[in-house]
Amino acid sequence: MGLKSGIEQLRLTNFRSYSFMNMDLSSSFEPVVLTGHNGAGKTNILEAISFLVPGKGLRSARLGDVAKREAEDFLDRLDVAQLPNRWSISAKISMAGVSAKIGTGTIDGSDRRQVRIDGKNTSKQSDLAKVFKCLWLTPAQDRLFCGDPQARRRFLDRLVQAFDETHAVRLSEYNSVFKQWSCLLREGRFDKGWLSGLEEQLVSYGVAIAASRLDVIDRMSQNLKHPVAEIFPTAEIILTGFVEQLLLEKSAVQAEEIFLDKLQKSRKIYADGGSISGPHTADFKVIHSQKRMDASLCSTGEQKALLLSIILAEMNTQMQEQGICPLLLLDEAIAHLDIKRRHILFDVLTSLPAQVWMTGIDSENFDYLNGRAQFYDVRESNLSLKNVA
Ligand SMILES: Nc1ncnc2c1ncn2[C@@H]1O[C@H](COP(=O)(O)OP(=O)(O)OP(=O)(O)O)[C@@H](O)[C@H]1O
Ligand SMILES: [Mg+2]
Repeated sequence: MGLKSGIEQLRLTNFRSYSFMNMDLSSSFEPVVLTGHNGAGKTNILEAISFLVPGKGLRSARLGDVAKREAEDFLDRLDVAQLPNRWSISAKISMAGVSAKIGTGTIDGSDRRQVRIDGKNTSKQSDLAKVFKCLWLTPAQDRLFCGDPQARRRFLDRLVQAFDETHAVRLSEYNSVFKQWSCLLREGRFDKGWLSGLEEQLVSYGVAIAASRLDVIDRMSQNLKHPVAEIFPTAEIILTGFVEQLLLEKSAVQAEEIFLDKLQKSRKIYADGGSISGPHTADFKVIHSQKRMDASLCSTGEQKALLLSIILAEMNTQMQEQGICPLLLLDEAIAHLDIKRRHILFDVLTSLPAQVWMTGIDSENFDYLNGRAQFYDVRESNLSLKNVA
């Protein structure tokens, strides 16, 4: 196994329920287990770490909700997001032997988060992805297979971004052009030249987005077929979006032509309040391969195991392609797993070349890791180290 990756020191200032918090961790990067009562402050710590990569963190939070608020703020003000927005997170990290000091946060009144890497400020969050990598699994994702397609799209696009830095930029361009196109039509402004220009941009960004989604799922497919341990299900991810499906059968040029034709022919339908399929409505389904069962019909524990299979396949693919194992943030991940699956998962996690952060209510559920993990008791947003591995 190559050099390990992890966080050596983590500091939060004014972040969620923490005024100030400092953690000095073991640099041998054993798993970190945070246990404590509901509302103790466990997920807040994982969320802080998730802000050390580009994006909105593991809760997809509004930045104004992240700064520490006092109870009276909610009594006095209508919108706490209007209050000064000052919080920061900093960490000493080592990724496969390369150390860096990274930090992020907002300054008063700003709704943009700043980034600092080895003493240099930058407003480009994407720079963080070059020095630090982490993946997460949260209880909110338990509804991934049955719930809203928007959450699935967000999950899929995060996965793609881990391999293709430009994906986020293309998505935001596509969404902005789609908004303009849809405004023109819904306001009844049938300016053909303007609409055609926007449609050409939609087609070019849209096909690139769909191609990137297909490409990443294809690159992960071998690892999805061969899970880290037999007890975890093999999963198949099938992209069901209109443009993604086109690309499976046609060349990119043909897909562009068909998508363009569809956009042009749908102008009237869209103007009358109808909808149109495209990368903005794309979806995917997951098949539990051994059972040949759609994930939405699997049991809660089976769905959790499928999610773990997907995250671990993403981790392995990153490790193979980029040479660095991302950290894993597993919030309440073992809750629905039986004891056999839990223990196998713990064995897998302790053998990874990256630090894994786990949370849970009861520390007894992690006893199997005694001597192999760093245990913290979290109480009223105070951390105490229980034992050292
Ligand atoms: N901006 C904020 N300012 C102050 N406190 C906040 C803020 N956002 C969230 N909190 C509080 O932080 C506390 C800890 O939340 P957290 O989600 O970390 O708990 P937890 O230990 O994961 O609990 P559970 O076991 O229920 O998941 C909660 O009581 C929550 O209300
Ligand atoms: Mg929690």
